[in-house]
Amino acid sequence: MVRRVRQSFSPIPWREVLVFFSVSLCLCGSLLRAQNTTEATKNYHNENQRMEVSFAKQIAPIFQAKCVGCHSKAANMGGFVLSDFESLMKGGSHGKAIVPGKSEESRLVQMIEGSVQPRMPMSGELEAQEIAAIKTWINQGAKLDQDLGQLQALHEPEIPKIKPASLPAQVGAIAFSPDGSMVAVGGYGEVTFFDAASRRPLGKISGITEAVRSLAFSPDGRHFATGAGRPAQEGEIKIWQSGKEFWTKPAGQSFKAHRDCVYALAFAPNSQLLASTSYDHMIYLWDPATGKQVRPLKEHTDSVFDLAFSPDGKWLASGGADRTVKLWDVATGRRIHTLGSSTEGVNTVVFHPSGKFVAASGFDRTIRIWDISGNEPQEIRAVIAHEDTVLRLAYSPDGNWLVSTGWDRVVKIWDAKTMEQKQVIPDQSDWVLCLTFSPDGKMLYFGRYDGSVSVYDTARYQLLGNLLAPPSTLRAGK
Ligand code: HEC
Repeated sequence: MVRRVRQSFSPIPWREVLVFFSVSLCLCGSLLRAQNTTEATKNYHNENQRMEVSFAKQIAPIFQAKCVGCHSKAANMGGFVLSDFESLMKGGSHGKAIVPGKSEESRLVQMIEGSVQPRMPMSGELEAQEIAAIKTWINQGAKLDQDLGQLQALHEPEIPKIKPASLPAQVGAIAFSPDGSMVAVGGYGEVTFFDAASRRPLGKISGITEAVRSLAFSPDGRHFATGAGRPAQEGEIKIWQSGKEFWTKPAGQSFKAHRDCVYALAFAPNSQLLASTSYDHMIYLWDPATGKQVRPLKEHTDSVFDLAFSPDGKWLASGGADRTVKLWDVATGRRIHTLGSSTEGVNTVVFHPSGKFVAASGFDRTIRIWDISGNEPQEIRAVIAHEDTVLRLAYSPDGNWLVSTGWDRVVKIWDAKTMEQKQVIPDQSDWVLCLTFSPDGKMLYFGRYDGSVSVYDTARYQLLGNLLAPPSTLRAGK
């Protein structure tokens, strides 16, 4: 479990994932212990009320041991950095986490006590006396020890900044070049290009901000774009002029695109527009040649996780944490329809190659298909597809098959018309975070959380080989 929550890497909604885990993890423990904890806290609190709590000696070691792993400058979860005093007092994406003198009003306390979810630390609980010490320190004014001056007690954890040693580089995005000759694989801070025929690496782009969550070639083959960024800080889009060994050249456009990570990118079928979504609730359309914003699409009330253009380029479909799939008129930026039947957040949205159907799925494990060919969209299918959250969907280029992947580490192939299950590819070495068909539809590529990329044939769905092999050694959590 711990390995899942160390960093956010993929086009899937990590923060929702974490909340989900932590809630389920914490509930049983906290219910059982609730009474003892309160008693112990009270006693400790009373006994220590008059003693000055030392930040350096008593509080910093708790933060250092239990929090900094996820709240370092590099990890920056919740936009909250605990590895220096100034950042600690500044707070996170919800503002100040500590109100000096008022522990009850401090978000940090509410979160370590569990009255605000997700309970912190994400992967466990603090001891009652640790919580009590933090509360007393806040009630006493949340001060830095006077004799210490510039604080020494907190520091960044000693893990390489690029990739924590315990983590493989998740493959969060994968795409074929339109001519089918190569495959782009997005890892942490970099994209590797493979020759599709020989499966050998051709070259690499690096210098991307944190995890590559999305990448796309324009259908005319002239542009290649990546979406990435820093959680709760900025989204980043880079666009290259595609062409021979273009990865050896710098990006033509590189800009801050959102106020949070870019989760999905898609080029319009005519290659004239690039659409992006983000955790910041926004969708933007961009001119890929200039990097200029064409228009914002603003109606989602929560993070937007995925989007897709209709094959004729007139419509854009988007889905996100607000449980809706929205259909937009690309030319005007107006929302035409909201498809609101999902009961939980939507992770993935795809158009059928005919343009007549939209399929979506996510946390409610259900694949829903809407017929959008009439005046009003009709939900024509709702199939509980996986035992756990559905991560990705993809239609085969001929439109006959729909592929789904889930947290249950299973990939399923469905008859796109009847939604009968045609094939199951079980026991994936890890979550399949991204997938793509080769343009001729003969092969299917999976990119996984453990950093592996595998190739399957679509005649019998057998493993043909790996671009990047799964780690064969012991993996945590198994
Ligand atoms: C395993 C990772 C992990 C650990 C360990 C962890 N956190 Fe967090 N923390 C997160 C994540 C992820 C978020 C963002 C949650 C969200 O936005 O839903 C967060 C958010 C927060 C926030 C809210 C910031 C804001 O403004 O939104 C506070 C406060 C916080 N953590 C305090 C702590 C403290 C104190 C500890 C140690 C006792 C701790 N955390 C340990 C992962 C972690």
